[in-house]
Amino acid sequence: MQRHLISAADLTRDDAVLILDTAEEMARVADRPIKKLPTLRGRTIVNLFFEDSTRTRISFEAAEKRLSADVINFSAKGSSVSKGESLKDTAQTLEAMGVDAVVIRHGASGAPYRLANSGWIDAAVINAGDGTHQHPTQALLDAFTMRRRLVGRDAGLGQDLSGKRVTLVGDVLHSRVARSNVDLLHTLGAQVTLVAPPTLLPVGIEAWPCEVSYDLDSTLPKSDAVMMLRVQRERMHAAFFPTEREYSRRYGLDGDRMARMPEHAIVMHPGPMVRGMEITAEVADSDRCTVVEQVANGVSIRMAVLYLLLGGNEPAVTHTRPPVAHPSNEHSAHTPFAAEEK
Ligand code: NCD
Repeated sequence: MQRHLISAADLTRDDAVLILDTAEEMARVADRPIKKLPTLRGRTIVNLFFEDSTRTRISFEAAEKRLSADVINFSAKGSSVSKGESLKDTAQTLEAMGVDAVVIRHGASGAPYRLANSGWIDAAVINAGDGTHQHPTQALLDAFTMRRRLVGRDAGLGQDLSGKRVTLVGDVLHSRVARSNVDLLHTLGAQVTLVAPPTLLPVGIEAWPCEVSYDLDSTLPKSDAVMMLRVQRERMHAAFFPTEREYSRRYGLDGDRMARMPEHAIVMHPGPMVRGMEITAEVADSDRCTVVEQVANGVSIRMAVLYLLLGGNEPAVTHTRPPVAHPSNEHSAHTPFAAEEK
């Protein structure tokens, strides 16, 4: 693993599988009455949010607290950033306070990369979404959700998503979730298809490791997972489709369309959902929709990432029984989780 997590494209297959397997261990902590591990005691993590967020911000904070880190929350609103302070000065202020990791969400693509490579700070940098560029922990939690649902919780350990067919639908142009997912799913061996109006696909899409289709109905029967993307109005400065009604009719997922999906297939959404636009309430509330599960899995994934970037050598989870080596899990003997109960 590298020292920072900036892009899903930086992860090798083995890195990604190690994070997913570590997240499975972390998920067990959530099943305990006291959901806390001492792993990051004495470490300070700052959540630096320059853009709005509900799920990602709360999820990182929950993950940090479950690992016993000291948490500082910073939002640009109400800070000196609104007085004109630069990212550099903000970073140097954090450095002076001795933070160990910075979780950053920023409206400008590339801001986390700049922070990690500028020499302004020494801390590990984790990208929580930058502009239309990347959102690697979202892609990881999505892959974790797919592996659990489509391969199995135990059967999935050590496995990737080889052969799984994943369809991403909607505003690909403005979506860091789509970019991160295409990168990670490709690394994990899945076959990805993007479905969007031509106006909402980026220039150069031919070079992405995926298929492109303009016809949702013909793609649904060939999908194991269908991920709906929000139309990102806040990033649009032109008219990309005639009307919302027209968009929903062609690219929205309703009950009739969902019925075209194979029986085992799941519906995903990173949130926030705009009910009635890209997804109907009927689909959003159905058993096949994993939105709430994705949020819960996000905490486990972020615990795993923080642990692997900052954790050191202490076992994160101790077992009450000797660990069972999974034959297909090449990491099981090496992970810090193979430790016995102290
Ligand atoms: C996404 C984001 O912010 O990129 N949401 C999230 O992190 N759960 C997608 C979106 O805003 O539509």
